[in-house]
Amino acid sequence: MKNFIAINGSPRKNWNTAELLKHAMKGAADAGASTELINLYALNFKGCTSCFACKLKSRPHGSCAMKDDLSPVLEKIKAADAVVFGSPIYFMNLSAGMIAFFERLFFSNYIYSDEIPTVFPKKLPSAFIYTMNMTEKHFEFFNMKERLGMYEGTAHRILRVAPKILCAFDTVQFKDYSRYESSIFDAEKKFAYKEKHFPEDCKAAYDIGRDLILK
Ligand SMILES: Cc1cc2nc3c(=O)[nH]c(=O)nc-3n(C[C@H](O)[C@H](O)[C@H](O)COP(=O)(O)O)c2cc1C
Repeated sequence: MKNFIAINGSPRKNWNTAELLKHAMKGAADAGASTELINLYALNFKGCTSCFACKLKSRPHGSCAMKDDLSPVLEKIKAADAVVFGSPIYFMNLSAGMIAFFERLFFSNYIYSDEIPTVFPKKLPSAFIYTMNMTEKHFEFFNMKERLGMYEGTAHRILRVAPKILCAFDTVQFKDYSRYESSIFDAEKKFAYKEKHFPEDCKAAYDIGRDLILK
């Protein structure tokens, strides 16, 4: 049986990012895989501390020497058949938890060599699922494709396969906008957008999960 891992880079366990990840997991499960959801913000871990143990000639490459709650997760990813990374956009970037996770995963599988682009042991199909307040128009205006492309390009290099990408725009952030200082948003429009588009995003996430396992 194939093994599918979903990484939630949102601190919220039941909101937009988690929901899309759960649809990707359902797609993978329907394609015959076992699935696991890992909530990064439930773990106690740090980003890379620049110890360079992973670059030592005297030590096998491809594993992070830091020992914390992320250590078993990094091992699980090595054993997985497909992985999906979900992150909310925070200040035009991935969430801090997701960046810290990528530092550990990608840097430990990278050595300073042009001849050896990755020491990750196999091809690992992956996908990035992003959720954000901004509209598709703002996403283009702020050149987000290029910004996020840096992480996607690193995933391609290290995991040896180009990742699939899904963007969920204009997400609903609060159940009740009237309780929060949030005058830049038109809550009615937000909920109307969600009703029309979020089911399409969920379907796209499902297809990604299924295709990562079937192809
Ligand atoms: C700290 C913080 C920073 C954010 N920065 C941005 C941003 O720069 N651009 C954007 O479109 N949305 C931004 N958002 C909104 C989230 O990306 C959006 O609500 C997302 O869907 C949250 O995911 P979740 O529902 O899974 O937690 C930010 C939210 C937070 C909490």
